[in-house]
Parts: sequence; C-alpha cells; structure tokens
Amino acid sequence: MASKLELYKCSVCGQIVEVVKDGVGELVCCGQPMELLAPQRTENEKFEYHVPFVIEHEDCNEIQVGEKPHPMTQEHHIEFIEIYAKDNSKILRKYFTPDSHPSVKVPKCFDIGRAVAMCNLHGLWEKP
Ligand SMILES: [Fe+2]
Repeated sequence: MASKLELYKCSVCGQIVEVVKDGVGELVCCGQPMELLAPQRTENEKFEYHVPFVIEHEDCNEIQVGEKPHPMTQEHHIEFIEIYAKDNSKILRKYFTPDSHPSVKVPKCFDIGRAVAMCNLHGLWEKP
C-alpha cells in the first residue's frame, strides 16, 4: 500500500515518484518494487547541512537546506525541497540546479508543518 505524500525511489533507474492519493497496489519501476524513501533526521553535525533550516524575514520565511548551506556542485547537490502545510493540504516544491542556492522563500500565510530535502548522494532529510 502506498500512502499520500510518500516518496518512492527506483533502485535501478533512480526515478522518484510521490503518491498523490492512497492506493493498495505496489509501485513498480524497472521490473522491481520501488523503495519507500524514509526521511532521515540527525543531530550529528557531520550531516546537519542536509536538514532544512528556517530563516525568518519580515515578509516571508526562507527555508534553506542546512544552517550552513549544503554544497551545490555537479557531484553533490540538493535536487529538491518540499514544504508541507501543517494539515498536509498544500505542498510547495522547488527544484535546484547544482549552481543554485538551496533555499526557497515561503509566504507567511503558508502554515509550515515540515520540510524535506533530497540530496543526490545522501538521500532524503527532514525537519519536523
Ligand atoms: Fe549531501
């Protein structure tokens, strides 16, 4: 069973999909079941730069990946960030290129519940 807002990754081709509605079927890609991406959390300084960090501005909140921003190189970068409303009624997703800055500005009216960031090398990370 796949549940709404879960992310799944194909271990063969790397495709990532997000579930928009619950279902009982198994998600399959490249002939294999897809793997559920469980977000990691850390208190370990070594990986702290993956965890979304909130910077409050007067007119918006900025969600940056890492208090000290995550590296953004071709070899190692953040692919995207997703910000979920507290009631999961809305999602804001931003894709990044290796030369961009890993942050997104969110209007104050967006009731932020949690955020996840996807690193191309180290997987999915969450900030509750
Ligand atoms: Fe990383």
